[in-house]
Amino acid sequence: MDSIHIYGGNFLRGETKVQGSKNAVLPILAASLLVKGTCVIKNCPRIADVYHMQNLLQELGCFVTWAGNTVTVNALHVNDNRMSGESVTRMRSSVMLLGAMLGRLGEVTMAYPGGCVIGSRPIDIHLSALRNMGVEIEEQERLFTAKAKRLQGIELKLPFPSVGATENVVLAAVTAEGTTVLEHAAKEPEIEALCGFLKAAGAEIDGVGSNKLVIHGVKELHEAKYTVPSDRIVAGTYLTAALAAGGSIFLENAPAGQLGALLAVAEEMGGCVTVNEEGVGIDVMHRLKAYPYLKTEVHPGFPTDLQSPLMAALSVAQGKSVIEENIFENRFRIVDDLQRMGAEIEVVKNKAYIDGVETLKGMHVEAEELRGGAALVVAGLAAEGRSIVRNRHFIERGYENICKDLRNLGADINIG
Ligand code: UD1
Repeated sequence: MDSIHIYGGNFLRGETKVQGSKNAVLPILAASLLVKGTCVIKNCPRIADVYHMQNLLQELGCFVTWAGNTVTVNALHVNDNRMSGESVTRMRSSVMLLGAMLGRLGEVTMAYPGGCVIGSRPIDIHLSALRNMGVEIEEQERLFTAKAKRLQGIELKLPFPSVGATENVVLAAVTAEGTTVLEHAAKEPEIEALCGFLKAAGAEIDGVGSNKLVIHGVKELHEAKYTVPSDRIVAGTYLTAALAAGGSIFLENAPAGQLGALLAVAEEMGGCVTVNEEGVGIDVMHRLKAYPYLKTEVHPGFPTDLQSPLMAALSVAQGKSVIEENIFENRFRIVDDLQRMGAEIEVVKNKAYIDGVETLKGMHVEAEELRGGAALVVAGLAAEGRSIVRNRHFIERGYENICKDLRNLGADINIG
């Protein structure tokens, strides 16, 4: 129950289609609150975090329906401005609703989203940017109320290009009075997707894709249709599976342009990458070389979300690798399980020193969070014998059907 069973040690061969992006669709669903009407969002992944966002929107008064992978949100009647403790704390990205609710109703009371196992994840940057836009924030013990008579466009510079804070400022700014100039903004592809959706709904945003966004407030947004781009982290996870287990796979719809940092590492390790209009393929026919020094960075640097899956692959590469984690302080939680599988890894502060071993051995391991859980699946694919990854529910927060996708790629893997 709630686990994934893997018989590893075999080459992967096959192709699969990459699902829509979790980190893009969540702020887009939040943004649909700004439209007094219906938005149609295609290519939505059917994953736990999206269902959770759906429940939050429904609690606030929206009607949400699914047809295949298309979600329709009708936000004509949004009347509740309170978001209960449990519904917010269960998923950190509920914090996206802060900017959207301020834009829609001018007021929201919500619980602090809190930290999670990968790090403390405060929201100070979100709150201080919104304060600058005229939002008054009253903090209580576990809740805060944010209120703005009228959101005011302003020039802002984030102290760090936080993805979530950038999204909240954009959401608050699109219907604010005047122009917001946001410098040192995050430029992850998911921000581009959010801006793409908002522009389809009538927002005026310049500088999309750069770290300076200029948002001209409009009176209101209109109904829109939008197709969510493919998930670069899911595609990247499957690429690391091929790096770890070997083989030759093709990922239909994989967004090559967003995967530059990983593809460069894969090639450097000795993988042969092919990119065409339909997606990305990788061919790994011999044991790969270690990667001497990898740092996680903001986009377009190497993404923190792919650090753990790549660590699983580096555990069986030939030679020594170092990973420096710079975004979340607690992203090395899988090291104990990898060591039990036979990996040689030592962690000192925010660096992991990996001495690649010939092979891992199958083991019972425990997912503690989403990407770490996926990384343990990657390790299981490379390991000899049977692995069981417990706590599948963490993985299902972000992967629509990881077992089916990996079976398409030739893996012996099932839910259990
Ligand atoms: C988003 C992604 C997550 C990804 C991360 C970095 C979603 C739903 N999640 O998370 O998968 O790993 O970007 O690419 O899109 N910070 C502060 N104060 C703040 C905000 C952030 O100190 O107010 C810190 C965080 O604790 C963290 C770092 O900044 O150490 C990066 O956080 P941020 O870019 O905000 O990530 P998220 O939006 O939480």
